[in-house]
Amino acid sequence: MREPGSDNNAPSPPPQELLERLKDYGQEDAFALWDELSPEERDLLVKDIQSLDLPRVDRIIRCSFRSQGLPAAAIEPVPESNVSTVEKRTMEERERWWKMGLKAISDGKLGVILLSGGQGTRLGSSDPKGCFNIGLPSGKSLFQLQAERILCLQRLAAQSVNEGSASTTPIHWYIMTSPFTDEPTRKFFESRKYFGLEADQVTFFQQGTIPCVSRDGRFIMETPYRVAKSPDGNGGVYSALKSSRLLEDMAMRGIKYLDCYGVDNALVRVADPTFLGYFIDTGAAAAAKVVRKAYPQEKVGVFVRRGKGGPVSVVEYSELDPSLASAINQETGRLRFCWSNVCLHMFTLDFLNQVANGLEKDSIYHLAEKNIPSIHGHTLGYKLEQFIFDAFPYAPSTALFEVLREEEFAPVKNANGSNFDTPDSARLLVLRLHARWVVAAGGFLTHSVPLYATGVEVSPLCSYTGENLEAICRGRTFHAPCEISF
Ligand code: UD1
Repeated sequence: MREPGSDNNAPSPPPQELLERLKDYGQEDAFALWDELSPEERDLLVKDIQSLDLPRVDRIIRCSFRSQGLPAAAIEPVPESNVSTVEKRTMEERERWWKMGLKAISDGKLGVILLSGGQGTRLGSSDPKGCFNIGLPSGKSLFQLQAERILCLQRLAAQSVNEGSASTTPIHWYIMTSPFTDEPTRKFFESRKYFGLEADQVTFFQQGTIPCVSRDGRFIMETPYRVAKSPDGNGGVYSALKSSRLLEDMAMRGIKYLDCYGVDNALVRVADPTFLGYFIDTGAAAAAKVVRKAYPQEKVGVFVRRGKGGPVSVVEYSELDPSLASAINQETGRLRFCWSNVCLHMFTLDFLNQVANGLEKDSIYHLAEKNIPSIHGHTLGYKLEQFIFDAFPYAPSTALFEVLREEEFAPVKNANGSNFDTPDSARLLVLRLHARWVVAAGGFLTHSVPLYATGVEVSPLCSYTGENLEAICRGRTFHAPCEISF
């Protein structure tokens, strides 16, 4: 800020043209403290405002505010017949899809997109969520678990087509960061040598940000010379892929399918060949893994139909009417809206191209009321976000694939001490699942704490879904908790 009495800060008005543009959009308050700023700070403020696409931001703010309170299209449950449920699937189908998926992977047709631009505020850590160590015996971070699952799949894909050969086209991993997570994420990967992946099979790209606004739609100032901004939601991935020209990069590599998932699931089956095979088999443009909702207030989005016969889409937990969240299907006795989104989606590259060009024009963003750090302390205001699943209504066809939560969903959302979805609960889910794998493979467990509170960890380098463990486990005894590796 300007030093009182310092004369190298002679009053100079804000750049007139920029001020007029701000006035056009009712945002001139951004210059309210201009007279108190030092020349350097004024420079920063001008650059900050110039970096905003004001007409676009204004359109988004107006459309998003206007759409609030408008009656949403009635929602219907997704018919069970539209979901590939665990109980309907046959062993033959699973084996066929697994092989199809591995073949597509070995042909280099699958790319993986990791959504890692979120700030992890609920977890109470300022590091990117993927750096988080949930306390497994190995101490591995979420990023490392995911990288090693990719390594394991590359080996399985190579073996499935080349009779034992260990090499195949590397799976390309596109990692979306935001200005808040970009540098620490890159450094984390570099300092850990990409966890054994080739550095050039990993591409980082940044999502955009959007100003945070007060209840009357005005920019909130984080400092007197910077507008408060937040990432534009995980749906920002579409425009970020487009603006970073990564859709062309994918086409050039021969990628046809993209597995796109959230960073904060310790059991995530990255690039799951069974899901990929299923997706290819159905010929859908988009697909999602779903689990049955555990309880009405669970913080998960649910898949719905917009109107009778309308497109499949997701209603986020923050936007679902509580009476609908707890409504029961009288025939089955289960929740009416029971198919939970686990933030694991599959898209064709063609569909991604279509969405990247179309969704961008969609100016209705979700408004999330949050405490935003500002020059007035923490101010109640809105973050504006697009959601990854906002694309689903554009899909000519969407396939839903049920998975078991105890096998594939260990969310890491809240700090330890909270009731749900903590690092501790996620760790236990991993240890218990892997303990079952080890026992099924003929291993034995001993434990000095009750077994329900412990288990073993199988390195993803050894096994992706519990396969190929007999050679390591049969007849051996492991003292829980421990990591089982080669
Ligand atoms: C998300 C889903 C919710 C689902 C739940 C399952 C969305 C919008 N919501 O909710 O339907 O039931 O996971 O666990 O997908 N991210 C970005 N950029 C952003 C914001 C988020 O990359 O601007 C990433 C996060 O890093 C994370 C993922 O998107 O990997 C999910 O974001 P998060 O905010 O944690 O979503 P939830 O509210 O848990």
